[in-house]
Amino acid sequence: MEPMPASLDRLRRLPRAEVHVHLEGCFDAALLEQWSQRFGESMPRPRESLFRFEGLADFLEFLDWACGLVRTSDELSEAAYAFAARLHGSGGGYGDLIFNPTHWHHWHGRLPQMLDALDAGLRAAEQDGLPPVGLCVSLLRTQSAQAAAELVDLLLTLRHPRVVALSIDGNEASAGRTGPRFAGAFRRAGAAGLKRTVHAGESSGPEGVRDAVVLLGADRIDHGVRAIEDAAVVKMLAERGIPLGVCPTSNVSLGVYRWLAEHPLERLRQAGVPISINTDDPALLGTSLEREYDLCRAASAWSDDDLRAVARTSIDACFANDDVKARLRAALSRW
Ligand code: ADE
Ligand code: ZN
Repeated sequence: MEPMPASLDRLRRLPRAEVHVHLEGCFDAALLEQWSQRFGESMPRPRESLFRFEGLADFLEFLDWACGLVRTSDELSEAAYAFAARLHGSGGGYGDLIFNPTHWHHWHGRLPQMLDALDAGLRAAEQDGLPPVGLCVSLLRTQSAQAAAELVDLLLTLRHPRVVALSIDGNEASAGRTGPRFAGAFRRAGAAGLKRTVHAGESSGPEGVRDAVVLLGADRIDHGVRAIEDAAVVKMLAERGIPLGVCPTSNVSLGVYRWLAEHPLERLRQAGVPISINTDDPALLGTSLEREYDLCRAASAWSDDDLRAVARTSIDACFANDDVKARLRAALSRW
């Protein structure tokens, strides 16, 4: 293994949570190639360029293909275990893992079995000393109000202990303004004690972020960075203390910003918006949690106190139980 540069190694030891990361974005190219060969399926493009995406729509299509290769409960359990191992390798002490059932074609109509398989992998991981992980079950922006209501019905019937939140992801640019469509489902989920996390302000502008707060009652926003385009939305986030799960490399790779120097994360932070740093889809985007922290540290000249503050936000913003949060905060105070 390559020796790790000192700054990355030090950041790896910074106690923190990851709050915006998708199971669908954690497959590496070799595994996908192996699975596609097993089923005699062709790859959408050669392995060398497999993870070259033309934007969010192309990326989401790729997720359908990749997740469509997963057929058995054991494979799902292994994917969940591998996520916990990846998080541990990056020094994460807890993860909120987004999982969107619509991408997994062989599993449609079998959410309880999927949750049990993921839970088995995450339980095995914890028994092996890997970090605890909560699941955020996600709707896709392009789904109907009826589908959203059915997902919430099922989640409230199952009350699966591994599920911490209702989430929504996908492409707001192709779906249009859908906050009103999902408001009822999110209201019911929140009233029943599920947390709510909402992708907005990535493929939508600041109006999507406002809808996430006002219509969907978001406890946390995934991305949210385009709030910067409307000072009133920035003020609302800061005043209400609604945290953003920011993913800098994802935003550059999927075309929201041309390069990191353009990214508004530091302006948002200086305006008092709580932000944490995350990977979104680490394997597909070729990044890691410690790398994202290091890129931001260098781009915004963060001091150790700044790093501690961002790590602290990640712990405050995560949906872990109080014991896990207390343990992470205590470890952070010793960093
Ligand atoms: N699903 C996985 N990654 C995503 C992203 N960056 N935006 C919306 N949906 C996603
Ligand atoms: Zn995301």
